[in-house]
Amino acid sequence: MRGKEVRVGLIGAGFAARFHYDAFRSLPEVKVVAVASRTKEKAEAFARERGIPDAYGDYQRILDRTDIDLIDVVTPNFAHKEPVIAAAQSGKNVIVEKPLTGYFGEDWTEGEFDRRQVSARKMYERAVANAREMVEACRSAKVVLGYAENFCYAPTVQKALRLLEAAEAIVLYMRGEEAHSGSHSPYSMRWKTCGGGALLRLGSHPLGAMLYVKKKEGVRRFGRPIRPRAVTATIANLTQVHGFEKKTKHFLVTGWVDVENFGTLIIEFEDGSVGLLTAHDACLGGIYNVMEFFADTCRIQCHINPNNPCVAYAPEPTVFEREYIAEKLETKAGWSFPSVNEDFMNGYPQEMADFVRCVQEPGREPESDGVLGLDVVRVTYAAYLSAEEGRKVALDQESEHNGDG
Ligand SMILES: NC(=O)c1ccc[n+]([C@@H]2O[C@H](COP(=O)([O-])OP(=O)(O)OC[C@H]3O[C@@H](n4cnc5c(N)ncnc54)[C@H](OP(=O)(O)O)[C@@H]3O)[C@@H](O)[C@H]2O)c1
Repeated sequence: MRGKEVRVGLIGAGFAARFHYDAFRSLPEVKVVAVASRTKEKAEAFARERGIPDAYGDYQRILDRTDIDLIDVVTPNFAHKEPVIAAAQSGKNVIVEKPLTGYFGEDWTEGEFDRRQVSARKMYERAVANAREMVEACRSAKVVLGYAENFCYAPTVQKALRLLEAAEAIVLYMRGEEAHSGSHSPYSMRWKTCGGGALLRLGSHPLGAMLYVKKKEGVRRFGRPIRPRAVTATIANLTQVHGFEKKTKHFLVTGWVDVENFGTLIIEFEDGSVGLLTAHDACLGGIYNVMEFFADTCRIQCHINPNNPCVAYAPEPTVFEREYIAEKLETKAGWSFPSVNEDFMNGYPQEMADFVRCVQEPGREPESDGVLGLDVVRVTYAAYLSAEEGRKVALDQESEHNGDG
C-alpha cells in the first residue's frame, strides 16, 4: 500500500546527491521538490537535468519552506552538522550521509589548520560532542534522523542477518573492508573538510555494519545491543611509500594533503567478540566492499561490490564504451564483473525507503539511526587516538568532556 506523499529537499548536488535522487525516484510516494548547493548554478543544473522544480544557492531557502517533510543532507562532511541541526530546528525530518560528522578545526572559515598541532584526544572529544549535538537536536525536535549507512541496508548484509538469526549464531569475529583507488572529491583531500582520511571516509561503512550486526545480535540474544568496548588502530600514507612519488605515472589518486589513505582497526565488543576493519585508497580493479562473519554455527561472506552474477570479457576498453561496468574500475578491457544493479546491491533504494517509512509512520525508528552514526564517530576518533598514542583505547574510559583545549 502506498503511504502519504513525502516531499524532499536535497542539500548538496554532487556525487552522492545523484544516487540519493535515483533512490528517491524509485519510491512512488516521494517527490523531490527542491535542491540547494553552495554554488547556485550547480543546483540549477542538477534540478534542470532531473525536472526538480526549485533550485537555490542557499539551503536556508529549503528550510524556510513549509511544504517539505524531509531534508536530505548530501554535502561534504564538514557541512553536515549545521544543516542537520537547522533542519531539526525547523521541524523537518532529516537524512545525513556518512560519516555523521567529525572534527574540522575550531572554526573552519578561518583558513587552514595544521592537523599535526591538534591532539587526537581533542579531536575525539570535539567530534563526539558534534555528533551528540546532532542526535540531541533531532531527538528534542522529535524528528527522524536517518543516518545513510548503506552497508546496513545492502541486501547481502540483510541476508547475513537473517542467516545469523536462523543459525542462532554468536558472531565471534567479523572482517570488513572498503577500498578503492581514491576519492573524486576535492573535499576528501583535507582534514579540514573531510574530518579524517580513509579510516573515516571509507572505514565508516564496514564499521557501521559491524556495530549494526552486533546491535541486532544483542537485541536477539539479550534484549539489548552488544556495545563496542575498545579499539586499537594504525594509519598510514601509502602514496608516500618509498619510491612511489618518483614514478611518473600513477593509477592511484595522489594529492592527499594531510589525511591518511590507509587505516586499519580492531574493535572489541563487550561480549568478547572482535571485528577487523581495513580501509584504503590503494585498491586497483574497482571498488572493493566486503564483509565476512565468522560465527559459532556458520560463516557468511557478503560481496557487496564487486559481485559476480554477471562476468564479461572485452578484448579492448572501447568494446563496452557505452555501458556502465562498476564503480571506480580503471579499464573495461579484460575480464570484469559488470554490476547488474549497483544501487540495489549497495542498499541505496532500501535505505531511502526505510527513512521515508519512518516519516510516514510516527514512532518508527530507522534501521540505521543517529545513534549508529554517533557510535561510528566515537569508535573512529578513538581509533585515531589509538594510532597516535600507540595503545589500545577503552571506549567507556575515555571522557568526552575533559578536552585538552
Ligand atoms: N554512501 C556512499 O556510498 C557515499 C559515496 C560518496 C559520498 N558519500 C558522502 O556524501 C557526502 C557528499 O559527498 P560527495 O561525494 O557527493 O561530494 P561532492 O561530489 O563534492 O558534492 C558535494 C556537494 O555539496 C555542496 N556543498 C558543499 N558545501 C555546501 C554547503 N555548505 N551548503 C550546501 N551545499 C554544499 C557542493 O557544492 P559546491 O560544489 O558548489 O561546493 C556539492 O554540490 C559526503 O559526506 C560523503 O562522505 C557517501
